[in-house]
Amino acid sequence: MTRVLSGIQPSGEIHIGNYLGAIRQWVELGERLGREAFFCIVDYHALTNPLAYDPSTLAQRTFEAALVNMAAGLDPERVTLFVQSHVPEHTELAWVFTTLTPLGDLTRMTQFKDKAAKQEAVWSGLLMYPVLQAADILVYKADTVPVGEDQVQHIELTREIARRFNALFGETFPEPEALLNPEAPRVPGIDGKAKMSKSLGNTIGLLEDERSIWEKIRHLPDDPQRIRLADPGDPERTVVFTYLGYFAPKELVAALKEEYRKAGIGTLVVKRILFEEMMKVLRPIRERAEQLKKHPDHVMDALLEGARRARAVAQATMEEVREKVGL
Ligand code: ADP
Ligand code: NA
Repeated sequence: MTRVLSGIQPSGEIHIGNYLGAIRQWVELGERLGREAFFCIVDYHALTNPLAYDPSTLAQRTFEAALVNMAAGLDPERVTLFVQSHVPEHTELAWVFTTLTPLGDLTRMTQFKDKAAKQEAVWSGLLMYPVLQAADILVYKADTVPVGEDQVQHIELTREIARRFNALFGETFPEPEALLNPEAPRVPGIDGKAKMSKSLGNTIGLLEDERSIWEKIRHLPDDPQRIRLADPGDPERTVVFTYLGYFAPKELVAALKEEYRKAGIGTLVVKRILFEEMMKVLRPIRERAEQLKKHPDHVMDALLEGARRARAVAQATMEEVREKVGL
C-alpha cells in the first residue's frame, strides 16, 4: 500500500455509520500514510441525482463534511483532504474512461440497478457514477481504496478500466485493490434496516443535537418477540445492543446482555447506558467541531491546500494521459 484514496458524499449529515464504517479507519490510515492518504469530498457524485440534492445547500454540506472529518480526527496537515470539484481533472479523466467502458459493464452494476429501480427517471450520471469513481482513484494512481463491501464491484470495474487503458495506450495506471476492513461494522439504521444511510433517513448524525439523539435512541425498537418486561429478550435481535457493542466496554455489554436475556433489565435502562456511552465517544468530536465552526477559514484554508496538493498530482497524470491518448 503506497497511496490510498477514499471518498465521502456531501449528500447529507455525516452519521455514526460513516464514522464507524469509514472515517475511523481513514484516521488510522492517515496516521500511517500521511500525505499519501487522499480523502475526497465527492461533490460531483452528489449531483448524480438532481432531484436528491439542493443546490443552495450543497456547498454548505461539502464544507460540513470536511469539518466533521477534521473533527473526527483527520488532520489536513498530515493527509490530503480536498473537494472533488476543486480538481477538474477528475471529470476530464472520467470522460476518457467513459469512452473505454462498455455500456453493459455499467448497467450490470448492482448499485446502479438498486438505485435505478427506485427512481422514476434514471439519469446518465447515475450510470456513469462508477466511471467517475474510477477517475477519482486513478487520477492519483492510488493502489489502495478503503471501501465497504458494496463498493467492491466498482473497484473491480476500476481495475478493468486501468487494464484497458494500459493495453491500448501503454502502461500508465496501477490496478488498485479494495481494502476491506473486517473490523469495520456495517451499522444498521435506527429503523432496524441493515444499513444506516443518508438516503434512507435512518441515521444518527455525528453532530446531531444530544436531545435529538436521545429521542432516537429512546424510540429504538425492542426485541419484537418481547411483549412484556417480564419476558426474556434476545439482545441479538435489537439495534440497541448492536449499537451498544460499538460504544461500550466489552464487559459492560456482556453483563447487560446477560441481564436482558434473564428479563432482569428493561430496554429503557439499556438505552440510557447506550446514550451515555455513545456520547462519551461523540463528545470530543463535537467539541472539536464547535471549535472549527468558530474558525471556518481554517477549514476553507485546509481544503484549498488539500486541492493544491491533489491537483499537482492530478495534472501530472492528465498530462501523461493526453499525450498517450493523442489529445
Ligand atoms: P451514505 O450511504 O450514508 O450516503 P456514503 O455513501 O457517503 O454514505 O459512504 C461514505 C462511507 O461510509 C463509505 O466508505 C461507506 O462504506 C461508509 N458507510 C456508509 N454507511 C455505512 C453504514 N451504515 N455502516 C458502515 N459504513 C457505512
Ligand atoms: Na451511499
